[in-house]
Amino acid sequence: MPKDTVTVIDNRTGQQIEIPIKDGTIAAPELRKLKTSPDDFGLMTYDPAFMNTANCRSAITFIDGDKGILRYRGYPIEELADHREFLEVAYLLLEGELPDRAQLAAWKAEIMDHTLVHENIKKFIDGFQHDAHPMGILQTAVAALATFYPDARNIHDPVVRRLQIVRLIGKVTTLAAYAYRHSMGWYYVMPETELSYAGNFLNMLFRRTEVKYEPNPVLERALDILFILHADHEQNCSTTAMRGIGSSHVDPYSAMAGATAALWGPLHGGANEAVLRMLKEIGSVANIPGFIEKVKKGEGRLMGFGHRIYKNYDPRARILREMAEKVFQVTGRNPMIDIAVELERIALHDDYFVSRKLYPNVDFYSGIIYQAMKFPVDMFPVLFAIPRTVGWLAQWQEMLLDPEQKIARPRQVFIGHEVRHLPEVEAKAHPVGA
Ligand code: ACO
Repeated sequence: MPKDTVTVIDNRTGQQIEIPIKDGTIAAPELRKLKTSPDDFGLMTYDPAFMNTANCRSAITFIDGDKGILRYRGYPIEELADHREFLEVAYLLLEGELPDRAQLAAWKAEIMDHTLVHENIKKFIDGFQHDAHPMGILQTAVAALATFYPDARNIHDPVVRRLQIVRLIGKVTTLAAYAYRHSMGWYYVMPETELSYAGNFLNMLFRRTEVKYEPNPVLERALDILFILHADHEQNCSTTAMRGIGSSHVDPYSAMAGATAALWGPLHGGANEAVLRMLKEIGSVANIPGFIEKVKKGEGRLMGFGHRIYKNYDPRARILREMAEKVFQVTGRNPMIDIAVELERIALHDDYFVSRKLYPNVDFYSGIIYQAMKFPVDMFPVLFAIPRTVGWLAQWQEMLLDPEQKIARPRQVFIGHEVRHLPEVEAKAHPVGA
């Protein structure tokens, strides 16, 4: 009878151990039983960048990268994007089930109520240079919230925890909008709680002199879908940062500031900004072959392509490609789309990309839509951070409630000097002529 175990023989000592296989994994600490001497720490695994290491058990998001499948709490992303709104999806990610009507109404009211920020936050944002990157402002403002809500440190109290969750989901839109308006030199717009989450965000961003701001329904829905698509993506770089920082039991604002920093990088959420800069640099469809050749020679990457997990078309990119056309009917066509579509067509037929299974990821089309909606390029990672706040918080909460989790603390393989001594200490220990 085959057993659900792996047998490992240590050829150094002849020792043999049997390790149970659970959920397609073996527990790395089991290997420590293999020792060369009683004081040996035991065999470790070496896995830079966690290429083959599960860091947690999670019930939130499922990805099958080979098949291009993404599900939140079991529901396919395509169904959620088509039939649900962002705050419903947020509730689903955090609570595990979709809300009923009454729960949804209460949840929306609660989140919208928490969109207000302390007046001092405005003064704080005013302190930034006019050209400060809004992601830097957001990251700092989120960290600052920890000082406004010292109760947040009580992370083991479920009531306190929940309050910080609704505060963060509510306030992140306001902080993001204020970061943008600061860069424009415009007055800050108060949240309008009768508007939808996405509609109010557009109001806080773009309201000028009108008495009542009415978001365009197509753009409002497009933004809401964008938020759904970006809400969670299991153990990516920023979520791992959120879990890792949160594992020290710091408050969620401090942990989220770290996650926001991780998201900003061009290999992660900053890629949507990098895609737009790349498309601008390419400039026209005629220049694409030359650009592709440069990428293949290793002179830069095709931004918005490739993914650690997806070795197939990212399902979110597919939804966005279709959505772009609907948005353009309102905003006018963004000429970048033609370059992007042709770039994708060429790349998907080129052996370099095919053999490495490099497909468009979520960032490839999102930036083109954001730009058509009149968002400046440096707001793109901020637009990613808003919905991802939900994923970070759901993962943070799951980590805190998981009895198997402890403070994150990987091991290392030390490759530095053996002990050596300062010259003066050496001289004292071995005096000349002694
Ligand atoms: N353009 C050109 N070549 C690429 C690209 C790319 N975008 N991505 C990977 N490759 C190549 C690498 O050069 C490497 O080739 P080699 O085997 O000849 O050395 C091979 O494909 C594997 O690449 P890795 O860097 O090992 O893959 P990894 O899983 O570490 O990286 C990542 C994934 C960071 C997303 C990478 O594909 C990349 O840099 N993409 C561009 C940036 C981007 O779009 N990031 C957004 C990701 S989605 C998100 O975070 C929301």
